[in-house]
Amino acid sequence: MQNRLTTFGEVSLEALAAHFGTPLYVYDLARLRRDFSRFQNAFANLEFVAYSLKANPNRWLLKTLADLGAGADAVSGGEVLQALSAGIPAQRIVFAGPAKTPQELDLAARQQIFAIHVENEAEAQYLADHWPGTRVGLRVNPAIDPGTHPKIATGLPESRFGLPLEAVPRLVKTYGSALQIRGLHVHIGSQIRNPRAYLDALDRILPLLKLLPDPEYLDLGGGFGVDYEQDDDPWVEEILQALRPRVEPLGVRILLEPGRSVVARSGILLARVLYLKTMGTRTYALLDAGMTDLVRPALYGVRHRVQVVAAEDRPLRTYTLAGPVCENTDVFAEDLRLPELQPGDLVVFRDTGAYGFSMACNYNLRARPAEVAVDQGRAARIRPREPVGGFLMGEPAELEFVPLNP
Ligand SMILES: Cc1ncc(COP(=O)(O)O)c(C=O)c1O
Repeated sequence: MQNRLTTFGEVSLEALAAHFGTPLYVYDLARLRRDFSRFQNAFANLEFVAYSLKANPNRWLLKTLADLGAGADAVSGGEVLQALSAGIPAQRIVFAGPAKTPQELDLAARQQIFAIHVENEAEAQYLADHWPGTRVGLRVNPAIDPGTHPKIATGLPESRFGLPLEAVPRLVKTYGSALQIRGLHVHIGSQIRNPRAYLDALDRILPLLKLLPDPEYLDLGGGFGVDYEQDDDPWVEEILQALRPRVEPLGVRILLEPGRSVVARSGILLARVLYLKTMGTRTYALLDAGMTDLVRPALYGVRHRVQVVAAEDRPLRTYTLAGPVCENTDVFAEDLRLPELQPGDLVVFRDTGAYGFSMACNYNLRARPAEVAVDQGRAARIRPREPVGGFLMGEPAELEFVPLNP
């Protein structure tokens, strides 16, 4: 990869920064459509691809995917509502999460979504009591190690996600008539490159499918890896290819829930260099973007590829790129060779469409950045920049103490 980039989605990065300001998330809709389409014909018996909203829930990205027939995997009531508001039909929404509130279960049941993915017995009991006849699937923890970063492995034996394998027969027996238990769901983690992990999970749960009175579907989750060091993720097709002969003859429909692999590469974070500063042997380029805008480097130690938007023919220098947040972890990259930087220059963090804006926060009372979509040379704001100080508005001007003790 070159260390310079001047356009994205056929739009000038300088013009984007000048018009919308920085830090700025920019998404290329053509790339988004292309990456989603890899999953659309994955299996002859594919029911739908439930794009995992947690990766990036922006409504305009969802609308783009909805136009291609996407469903949604939601993890909260907010995500269910967001999917609906983007035009994803309720019949293509699944809802999984280890600690759903009664209000969230009520919402999902009332909307008659495709299925609520039950992760513990009390949840099944609540639905049987309040929403008998609801369509559910059982999220099963296959107790395997997908071989990824421990912070993103969710199917380990001790994970809090899903039901233990041995609980499934009892749940089917107890709730099989009160609820429509139509399918099984597994999601074993993120950043998986090895088909073996999916095949192992399949081996673990297939015997359980036979226990369902009227099995309709198997949801194999997301987790398809993205290589943050280069452009290509050949294992996506390899995994689908390895699964195809195993799932197509099963006689049930298949769901997939990719998040990262759909949206990561379509997004960049554009930031401006505020200052250069040398401390000992280290030269920092201090940016207007920080870990509050993109937390993945601080949280997982991930290094996103960096490009600069500066003029050609600058000599290479070594920089550590860091943000304004008062945490030592607010560092995006150490000792990187880049064309010489000057204050005001723009830098680009690649492949930040997934778990970028969706994990942004207001720590240090920083306003979250704007989001812009580009499509074949045109650009549109899809989320405004938060106003500085805007998040103070919810705090009351006067204290009203409530007498709670009897
Ligand atoms: C239940 C479920 N499905 C799908 C996903 C999406 O995973 P990924 O973005 O790695 O594809 C997640 C991510 O945590 C998840 O928890």
